[in-house]
Amino acid sequence: MKKQSTRRATKTSSKEDIIQLILADHKPLKKLIKIMKDVDNKSLNERRTAFSEFAPLLMAHANPEEFALYAELKTNSEDMRLEGTEGELEHGLADQLIEETKSTQDATLWSARAKILAEMVEHHIEEEEGEMLPEFKKKSVLEVRIELGKKYLERQKQLQEAPDHRIAPKKQNLSEHFHS
Ligand SMILES: [Fe+2]
Ligand SMILES: [Fe+2]
Repeated sequence: MKKQSTRRATKTSSKEDIIQLILADHKPLKKLIKIMKDVDNKSLNERRTAFSEFAPLLMAHANPEEFALYAELKTNSEDMRLEGTEGELEHGLADQLIEETKSTQDATLWSARAKILAEMVEHHIEEEEGEMLPEFKKKSVLEVRIELGKKYLERQKQLQEAPDHRIAPKKQNLSEHFHS
């Protein structure tokens, strides 16, 4: 019996861990990024199709990531506040580029914008997977990461139900969370 509880206490990973949820959501994004930036081997049509899948998928990932993980880093982790802030700014830049790409008619300009977007998000994901997430894992306990995982999934669900209310509920819920 004692052995079992020790094992549970030292467990370091779980499917509900926000880190696992984020890594899982990065996978399809990375596949689409490869297509979007491959101007030599992929047709404009293939890249456009990849972009139209990529844009909503990134949105469904980035906002909950800000809401759960970055908010935690900015509020509760002195050493990782900068990473959380940097991540949020990069999401903002990606959003901007997505909007610009959507409204671009010229094929060459479209290809350039989509490629820049793909490379920027690729670099962002590499930094998260190579630096931010491993550092956060070291500095946090599984319980907290599971709690954040719940927040992440709840936020994803909220966005699916009401995609237009991206900003307003975020602040409200955050203050509720941190004052309770
Ligand atoms: Fe991110
Ligand atoms: Fe991410």
